[in-house]
Amino acid sequence: MKKTIKDLNFEGKRALVRCDFNVPMEDGKITDDGRIRAALPTIKYLVEAKAKVILMSHLGRPKGEPKAQFSLNKVADRLAELVGQPVKFAQSDVVVDENVRKIASELQNGEIMLLENVRFRKEETDNDLHFAKELSELGDIFVQEAFGTAHRAHASTAGVAEYLPAVSGFLIEKEVKFLGDAVADPKRPFVAIMGGAKVADKIKVIDNLLEKVDTLIIGGGMSYTFFKAKGYEIGSSILDENGIELAKEIMDKASKLNKDLVLPIDIVVADKFDNEANTKIVDVESIPSDMMGLDIGPKSIELFNKKIADAKTVVWNGPVGVFEMENFAKGTRAVADALAKSDCISIIGGGDSAAAIKKFGLEDKMTHISTGGGASLEFLEGKKLPGISVIEDK
Ligand code: 3PG
Repeated sequence: MKKTIKDLNFEGKRALVRCDFNVPMEDGKITDDGRIRAALPTIKYLVEAKAKVILMSHLGRPKGEPKAQFSLNKVADRLAELVGQPVKFAQSDVVVDENVRKIASELQNGEIMLLENVRFRKEETDNDLHFAKELSELGDIFVQEAFGTAHRAHASTAGVAEYLPAVSGFLIEKEVKFLGDAVADPKRPFVAIMGGAKVADKIKVIDNLLEKVDTLIIGGGMSYTFFKAKGYEIGSSILDENGIELAKEIMDKASKLNKDLVLPIDIVVADKFDNEANTKIVDVESIPSDMMGLDIGPKSIELFNKKIADAKTVVWNGPVGVFEMENFAKGTRAVADALAKSDCISIIGGGDSAAAIKKFGLEDKMTHISTGGGASLEFLEGKKLPGISVIEDK
């Protein structure tokens, strides 16, 4: 068990909190503030506990240089609205300087400040200990809350813990509970649904989950690599050439372990990659050579729905069709609806499946939607994440 903010007294202490405020932006506007909202319980708790709250995060990949479009100033504004109190934004091209130290030292109990994008310094991604020390000197206790960046060993996610006691915030606690404990000791039947384009990207997750699940459903772009491995015609569907052997290995392993490996049985094929393409529904053995599969068909939806209805725990990572195009979103929407209707523990591994759930407005119906993309994948692979390893044990 990791120490959490509940295990320490924060009154009058400077809490240096690493958040993942790496939110999507368009034309200088935040298009999804989910990651800011996800950190609110921890921030509010620290405010009520009378801590001096010093927040830090990265935004995008400015590559070690100050760049205006990657400034966290918009995040500070949005956070202030959400938290209902001012957030002092410590603008600085070098993240920590005399002025920033002054703002931090004048912070009163229950006040909040936000540092500038830590990736404005190249030492951040190098996990440079001098920079980590500079950051650590602003605080008394390090609070790890950046699950989305916990797979990176950077100065603000790992290095600072060399100098400060490190505890987890509520978001980290929640992510570890659902992605870790629920997978290690699931209520059964336990079903994993894997989608997305490339087998190679998810092979380690599939490999790890295969040993734990009762049923593994493969959908989306990567299913065509499995069909190819079975010797089927896949037309111009997406193929991960390097994944064919891996797909064979997964199928062999599933049969050796006596696991239920489920692939789509019918497909919506299109004559081009376009929402307005001509389409038809075919069985997976009959994909025309001049067409591409872009979604699962009705028989597959029925099959997947049945597996979900029988499940007590479902982990879903990756859409089962090109859900960004309305005409190929049916399969992904059906999976999301089935999860919403079911009373199973539904865990959505971030990235595209989380985006799909949000697009369909079903966030409230899921047990847990991870804020991590790469981090949730690495966690589901069973890897130890550096940002979590640095948190002290109880
Ligand atoms: C993410 O969005 O996955 C995290 O914020 C990490 O960002 P990175 O891939 O740039 O390290």
